[in-house]
Formats: sequence, structure tokens, C-alpha cells
Amino acid sequence: MIGDKKVLFSGMQATGTLTLGNYLGALKNWVTLSDEYECFYSVVDMHSITVRQDPATLRKRARALLTLYIAAGLDPEKNCIYYQSHVSGHAELMWILNCFTYMGELNRMTQFKDKAAKHADNINAGLFTYPVLMAADILLYQADVVPVGIDQMQHLEITRDIAIRFNNIYGDVFTIPEAYIGKTGAKIMSLQDPGKKMSKSDENPNGSIYLMDDPDTVIRKFKRAVTDSVGCVRYSDEQPGIKNLLDIYCACTGKTPAEAEKEFDGRGYGEFKMAVGEAVVDVLKPLQQRVEDLNRDKAYIDGIIRDNARKADYYATKTLRKVQKKVGFPERIR
Ligand code: TYM
Repeated sequence: MIGDKKVLFSGMQATGTLTLGNYLGALKNWVTLSDEYECFYSVVDMHSITVRQDPATLRKRARALLTLYIAAGLDPEKNCIYYQSHVSGHAELMWILNCFTYMGELNRMTQFKDKAAKHADNINAGLFTYPVLMAADILLYQADVVPVGIDQMQHLEITRDIAIRFNNIYGDVFTIPEAYIGKTGAKIMSLQDPGKKMSKSDENPNGSIYLMDDPDTVIRKFKRAVTDSVGCVRYSDEQPGIKNLLDIYCACTGKTPAEAEKEFDGRGYGEFKMAVGEAVVDVLKPLQQRVEDLNRDKAYIDGIIRDNARKADYYATKTLRKVQKKVGFPERIR
């Protein structure tokens, strides 16, 4: 708790260009929850270097992501929006938690297996211990709730396991976090292959809607989206392409799948796909406009980066000192 509020932590990698999946699965929920909780939203640039990055590009993307958090509606005066690499506590707590995490647990992580297969020439230790850094992120702020898409659930579970293990040895040190998965949009799939999640790193750009795509591109991608030969708009596992489009439509409009099915009853796929595309454009247009406005105000963003790094550091250090004392590190002499 901070004051009378529970704590929320979440983050995104500044790798690649954000997709509609990131927005509907995570960012949109962050905004909805931001009044209720004391929130920490991190641009997790330390996670990004588990895969080789061009330094200038990473720096640019990290800034673009931080700006996007604000453009999406997170008030940086109320929410702590900051770069992970600006708070050294993340790395320090990670080291300690590494010593409370088993190789066997990390070996079971599906994201590690996927990424190791994709980057076979660079299976570094950071890629393997990635979930421990994520646990450090969350536990450092004593987070109660962590809004994420379904793909991050396994990492949330290992975070809870590490925290419970630590608390069992040293007493009540960490708050045990809960995942928050939104009702709609928790797993947006590729428009070209509804069996695969929409991803920043997809080789086929037609499968993903990027948040900065212009309206014509968005509509074109939806027109090309893979459907089926059934011919009716139904929310069913047997029609994964249509189900995904309905998920997107509902997450963008606030309608339920039943309402959307009724709306498109007896109408063709072409018409339906256009409507989904337009609903997405209606969400992206104002977002893109706000990004453009914010990009004009460099000093404002710089101020936020500086002030929020201090705020995050204050809370991170509080937890870190407690943990260091528990494990037996000598006290600092002032
Ligand atoms: P990342 O950067 O891959 O994704 C950011 C958020 O977007 C969600 N997401 C999706 N949701 C629905 N459909 C999709 N197709 C889709 N693709 C991505 C993710 O679930 C995530 O919530 N390891 C994390 C970042 C991280 C983090 C943390 C998150 C680091 N430390 C601590 C929470 C708490 C990651 O790589 O997310």
C-alpha cells in the first residue's frame, strides 16, 4: 500500500513497434485502472537487451514508448512513468532473487524456449533469467496487481512462487501480486494466422496492426485478414479468424460479442471487416494525434523522465534496503 491505495506495476519492452495487441491487452487496461491504484509503469529497456539492439534505435524506441504511455491517457503527474534502467534497484534486487530461483523453474518458461529457438545464435544468460528481472520489477514496488496479456501469465506465476519462497524464509517481506487480465483483448491474434499471437516481431507486417499505422494501412490490413468459409459472424473457437476480429471489435467499441454477433447477423465478411477496421482507426487516430502533440514538447517529457525516476527510485530503495537487511548484508554507515 502507498497511502490508502493498493499498488499496480506493469511494463512493456521498447523492442519493435507496439501493436494493437499491446494496446488492447495491456495499455488500455492500464488507463482504466490508473485512478484506483498507485501506479508504476515502466519502459523495460533492460529486458530489451536480452536480444541484440542497435543503441540509437533502442534509445529512440524507449522514448517513443514512454510518450505513448502518456498519449494513451496515463497522467504522468499521478502515475509513475519511468525507464527501468534509471532505477538501479531493479538489477540489485534481481541478483538477490536469482539466488532464490531454480534453474528447473526457468527451464520451463515457454517464452525462453520460443526466444531461444528464434535467436539460436545468442542464447545469453539474460534471456534465461529474464523472468527474474520481471519478478524484481514487480516485487520492488510491492505491487498488488499486474495488468498483462495472457502471454505473460507464466512469468506472473514464477514471480509469485519466488515471492512466496522468500517470505517463507524471511517473513512478510513481499506483497504477493495478482495478475489482472482484461475481459476483452487479452490475446489478440495475428490477422494472417489466427493461431499465432499478434507480435511486434512478426516477419509478416500484414499480420499486425502497429499503433502508428495510418488509416489506409489499417483498413487494408483488415480487408486482407484471414477468415473462413463458414460465412457467418459468430464468436466461436471453430472460427478463430472471425473470433479474433470480434475480440478486436469488442475491445475497441466496448460492445459484447453477443451484441456484435447480432449487429452483423446476415451481413457479409467484407462489411464486417470494414467495420472492425474503422473501429480500430477511431481508437488509433486520437492516440496518434496526442503522440504528435507530445513530441513537440521535449522539455515537458524530459521533466517527467527526471521526476518520475526519482519517485520510482525512492520506493524501490525502500524495498531493496529491507531485502538486503533480511538476507544479511551489512548495514550502511552514514
Ligand atoms: P511485452 O513488451 O511483450 O508486451 C507488453 C504487454 O502487451 C501484452 N501483449 C498482448 N496482449 C494481448 N494480445 C497480444 N497479441 C499481446 N502481445 C503483447 C503483454 O502481455 C504485455 O502485458 N516481459 C514483459 C514486460 C515486462 C513486464 C514486467 C510486464 C517486464 N517486466 C513486469 C509486467 C510486469 C513483456 O515482454 O511484455
